[in-house]
Amino acid sequence: MATATNRALINPISSLFLYVLLFESRGLCESVPGMYIFGDSLVDVGNNNYMPASFAKANNPHNGIDFPSGKPTGRFSNGKNAADFLAEKVGLPSPSPYLSLVSNSNELSDISDLVTGVSFASGGAGIFNGSDEIFGQSIPLTKQVGYYSIVHDKLVQHMGSDKAQAHLSKSLFFVVIGSNDLLDYFNKNPRASKDYTPEEYVDLMVSTLKGLYQRLYELGARKFVVSGVSMIGCCPAQRRQNATSECNVEANYWSINYNDGLRSLLRGLKRESSDIHYSYFDTYRVMDSIIQDPEFYGITEIKAACCGRGKLKADGKCTIFSTYCSNRKNHLFWDLYHPTEHTSSIFANMIYSGPQPVTDPMNVEQLVDV
Ligand SMILES: *[C@@H]1O[C@H](CO)[C@@H](O)[C@H](O)[C@H]1NC(C)=O
Ligand SMILES: *[C@@H]1O[C@H](CO)[C@@H](O)[C@H](O)[C@H]1NC(C)=O
Repeated sequence: MATATNRALINPISSLFLYVLLFESRGLCESVPGMYIFGDSLVDVGNNNYMPASFAKANNPHNGIDFPSGKPTGRFSNGKNAADFLAEKVGLPSPSPYLSLVSNSNELSDISDLVTGVSFASGGAGIFNGSDEIFGQSIPLTKQVGYYSIVHDKLVQHMGSDKAQAHLSKSLFFVVIGSNDLLDYFNKNPRASKDYTPEEYVDLMVSTLKGLYQRLYELGARKFVVSGVSMIGCCPAQRRQNATSECNVEANYWSINYNDGLRSLLRGLKRESSDIHYSYFDTYRVMDSIIQDPEFYGITEIKAACCGRGKLKADGKCTIFSTYCSNRKNHLFWDLYHPTEHTSSIFANMIYSGPQPVTDPMNVEQLVDV
């Protein structure tokens, strides 16, 4: 611990993490009745497995190798992801993929499945519909919100309007989105990077998101847990494109810029509707802290993925033919885009009880009690 403390003094964010470890949660005061999750592969728990045409799937080994079942589940991880850990922290089962609850007749199966939460997150999803929708690869955010409106109506139908509203106003709405839109742009999608300057593109991401948050508010959401994007330019897929495996500084610059826009969007929503409460999580800052002082977090490999092939194991997805690292706990990245279970658990600890400025204006533990 002495070493850790000394390190913590050098790295301010590490010391925040130490704070989280030392002052572990004081137990739940209020309970969270449900959690509704929107986003991309960072929090997908298997929706894409129900989309026959989708290539954006993690339903193959070696994904899931450290999951309790030891089997692939559709999570882009060796084990659990941040959605699983956050659900655990607030005392809920990890919300099921929405598409697993829809029967063949497209009717939602059982109301009890909907009450404790549903995950609409889908690998490959973005704020923009992109080309993904055309090919049925993923569920874009607009469509995720559309699915949520069906769940909302079902809850109102079964609980009555007042009870449904009371339930939803105490539930958490966890949103993790934006990485794919930025990756799309910086992988030089000809459409995106020809039609827009990076600034216009980022502004459009934020203004599109605003409409979707307003829609969620109209549909009863009051407590938002919102993750910014990470250091997009430092994922193995981006480093791989650099001769010396450095981060893509331009992608990182615009990640910060997008996060700034997202924060001002949240402040604006709060000004317009004072009954909105949110916890913003600065993933970028935490990722930066890990990259600067990986040993503090028990990590020794920050550049290469654990599972994959070729340069930085980032020449392709994690498949059954890939090799994978024997120690998943000392790797920052599981595959060319996604963090390991270990990294996701660091994120979830911070989301739940991290102090400012990692969480702003409050952490989830405080958000629950609002
Ligand atoms: C995405 O597609 C839906 C219809 O499928 C449309 O209503 C919506 O405006 C589109 N959103 C964006 C951001 O293009
Ligand atoms: C690699 O990244 C560094 C740091 O961002 C940059 O200065 C350099 O130009 C990049 N090299 C290539 C070949 O992209």
